[in-house]
Amino acid sequence: MNINFQEITTAKAKLDHVIIFAVADDRKLSPLASAFNKQAGGALFKAITSPKFTGKKGQFVSVVAPDSLKCDRILLAGIGAVKSITRKSLESLGGAVAAQINAIGAKSATFMLDELKGCPVPLPEAAARIAHGANLRSYNFDKYFTTKPADEKPTITGFTVALADSKSSAKFYGELDKLAEGVFLTRNLVSEPANIIYPETFAEECLKLEALGVEVEVLDEPDMYKLGFGALLGVGQGSSKESKMVIMKWNGLGKTSKAQPIAFVGKGVTFDTGGISIKPSSGMEEMKYDMGGAGTVLGLMKALAGRKAKVNVIGVAGLVENMPGGNAQRPGDVVTSYSGQTIEVINTDAEGRLVLADALWYTQKHFKPKFIIDLATLTGAILIALGSSRAGLFSNDDKLAEQLFKTGEKVGEELWRLPLGDVYDKQINSDIADMLNSTNSREAGSITAAQFLQRFVNKTPWAHLDIAGMAWQKKDSDICPKGATAYGVRLLNELVKDYYEAK
Ligand code: BES
Ligand code: MN
Ligand code: ZN
Repeated sequence: MNINFQEITTAKAKLDHVIIFAVADDRKLSPLASAFNKQAGGALFKAITSPKFTGKKGQFVSVVAPDSLKCDRILLAGIGAVKSITRKSLESLGGAVAAQINAIGAKSATFMLDELKGCPVPLPEAAARIAHGANLRSYNFDKYFTTKPADEKPTITGFTVALADSKSSAKFYGELDKLAEGVFLTRNLVSEPANIIYPETFAEECLKLEALGVEVEVLDEPDMYKLGFGALLGVGQGSSKESKMVIMKWNGLGKTSKAQPIAFVGKGVTFDTGGISIKPSSGMEEMKYDMGGAGTVLGLMKALAGRKAKVNVIGVAGLVENMPGGNAQRPGDVVTSYSGQTIEVINTDAEGRLVLADALWYTQKHFKPKFIIDLATLTGAILIALGSSRAGLFSNDDKLAEQLFKTGEKVGEELWRLPLGDVYDKQINSDIADMLNSTNSREAGSITAAQFLQRFVNKTPWAHLDIAGMAWQKKDSDICPKGATAYGVRLLNELVKDYYEAK
């Protein structure tokens, strides 16, 4: 979507255009809204004094513009108490406004931000946040529709915010635009079906980041065989698609900088049938989003490189397709991971941890990072524990866990920490190998999975985000239409910005 910032003094009504004003819970019209109200013969005042409109967050009332106003409609958006405005609420506002504009069927709109007295967020940032929210919500994945009628398609293509000091807003928005590009890349890849995105084509998408100065290395099956990636390769061996591992490096501190990097590792199971421990057919199509962790790592790398973040970052994607077949791994097989530890695979559907085992070991061994954060649609059990409003957070490092938690609250990609410990660790001991890839009980399924991962990070500070409930949503939210969410891209971009980037 085309986003612009305009000086409020030059902003005016335009034909085929929606004009938006914020209305707080005191139900007062801003000076510019009052001027519009006068021209419209008091129509705006009438609208906001209707008993149903209290100025609460999320309320909207729209007025069809009379001929005296040269625009299509005026949309009045409730914003609640001005003093409780946050960056999150502003992004939500922008997103909800974009949805309203689509519902109206307009192509373009201008949000008039002439006054927001007492707003804790500075006005230029507030304007940028509103625009960012609108942009994130305007995403849609429609490439496979060939016969959809125009009146069922989203209409919005342009969004302007008008305020004094539009230059500062535009500057602030620059970084958010790069962030949105990363989010959209993730949403695109996660939305794509598994006949289009599989390990090789995912790796090709990673290689496109070279244009931004990211170094990209792709390991193929012979490479990984030589290294001894028995855990990852075992998962992919039933598929006719070749497994891959991609290593991306963004040296934001300079090509020759030796500064210790930070690292992100993603589960990229491009389709998870369960393998021989096959999943029930109902709902199996959802398992195209089992590469959501890797998708987020890629989108994050794009955002960081796009905004030239001053930090050295490693992004690793473990890419496999989990299929049954004549060459597939069997329950009971014992594999030797890259770390040397052996694993008895009692359930071929607990495949994500096998992929991550080799990716995590590789990452800590080759890069000695400050920390590793992995993202994975790892367990259905995390949906039972936390539902689809928070990701599961597991960590061996309290400081890192705290930073992640706080950042989640700030950006609206929330998490909740769950415990690790010996009682859980014991449950994955095997009778014939170093460990089991699953347990025979369904108890604490997300924790025992995290416990497995912990055996592959050595002493490196590490956090594991189980995003099985977050990578895909069944309903629209303010800043994201239903479908792929790109959960984690905004969270980790902010984490890097707040704690790990050179200023
Ligand atoms: N990819 C699934 C987890 C998942 C479930 C992601 C629902 C998104 C939505 C994972 O590979 C899996 O199958 N996990 C098993 C683990 C079990 C076999 C120990 C599960 O959760 O049932
Ligand atoms: Mn599985
Ligand atoms: Zn899976």
